[in-house]
Amino acid sequence: MKNVAILTSGGDAPGMNAAIRAFVRYAIYKELNVFGVERGYDGLINDKMTEMDRRSVSDILQRGGTILKTARSEEFLTVEGQKKAYENLKKRGIEGLCVIGGDGTFTGAKVFSEKFDFPVAGIPGTIDNDLAYTQYTLGFDTAVNTVLDAVNKLRDTMTSHDRVCIVEVMGRRCGDIALYAGVAGGAEAILVPEIEYDVQKLASNIVENYKKGKTSDIIMIAEGAGKAEELSLVLKALTKISTRSIVLGHIQRGGSPTLQDRLLGAKFGVKAVDILLEGKRALVGVDDNTIITIDIDRALAMKKAFDKELYETARILAM
Ligand code: F6P
Repeated sequence: MKNVAILTSGGDAPGMNAAIRAFVRYAIYKELNVFGVERGYDGLINDKMTEMDRRSVSDILQRGGTILKTARSEEFLTVEGQKKAYENLKKRGIEGLCVIGGDGTFTGAKVFSEKFDFPVAGIPGTIDNDLAYTQYTLGFDTAVNTVLDAVNKLRDTMTSHDRVCIVEVMGRRCGDIALYAGVAGGAEAILVPEIEYDVQKLASNIVENYKKGKTSDIIMIAEGAGKAEELSLVLKALTKISTRSIVLGHIQRGGSPTLQDRLLGAKFGVKAVDILLEGKRALVGVDDNTIITIDIDRALAMKKAFDKELYETARILAM
C-alpha cells in the first residue's frame, strides 16, 4: 500500500482535527502518501481530494471542528455514488480509506468496503457517545465539559432566584451527555430516552426538594427524551415554582478539545493507519483505557448499553 485517504463525515466533534493530524503524520512516517478528502463522502464522489504533508496539519490540534469539513452525503447511499467514489480513489492509486464519524459514517464505510473489497479504518467521532463498541467517542468529553460550564453558570442564577432550570442537551437517541453532565453537575434529575420518567413524580420531587431546603433544581434532559420548553411549562403549572428552560444546542459541538479528546485523537489516528497497513476493515475504539480494534461488522451489530448504575448513583446523590 502506497496511498491512503482520510475524511470526516456526519456531525463534527472536537478532537477530529487531533485525529486527522495523527493519521497524516503517522502515515507519512510509515512512508505512505496521504490524501485529505473534503466534505465527507461527497468529496469522494466529487473528486475533491488533495495530498497532505506534515505542515498541512500544523496548528490544528487545539481546534474544534474539522479542517476537512464534513457533510451527511445522500448520494453515497446510492450504488452510482459509491461507484463514482471508488473510481476516484482508484485513479489516484488510493488503496485504503480512513473515515472519522459516527454510526451513519461507519454504515457507509461497511457497505463500500464490502462492495469493492476496500480496506477501511473507522475512528469514532461524535459528541453523542452512542456507539456500542467503544467506551468513548471523540468529542464526547469536550461536549460534556461545555455542558458542565453552562450548568455551573445556570446554577448561580437559578439559586439566586430559587428557580428550577430545565437544560436540554444533544445526544440524538442517546442519553450519555445528559447522564455524565448530570452526575458531574449535580443535577437534581436526569431525563434520558433509555429510562421512562413520570412528570407528576418529577414535580412532586421538586416540591419536596424545596421543602428540604434546596434553593434550585437543575433538570437535565436529553434531546431524545423531550423538549425543555414544554417540560418547563408543565412543571411550572404543577409545582407553582418559577421555571426557566434552555437548549444548549450547537455550542456543545464546538470548542478546543479536552485532554481526553486530544489523547484519543492521537491514539486513534495512529491505530487507523496500522489497520489500513494490515489491509483490514475495522474500527478503533477505547475500552478500559486501552485502544482496541474491532471488525466493522461485529462493531455495528452491537447494542449500546446504558449505564444504569451511574444513573442510580446520580439519583441517590441528588436527594
Ligand atoms: O450527532 C451529533 C449531533 O450534534 C446530535 O447530537 C444532534 O441531534 C445532531 O447532531 C444535530 O445535527 P445538525 O448539526 O445537523 O443540526
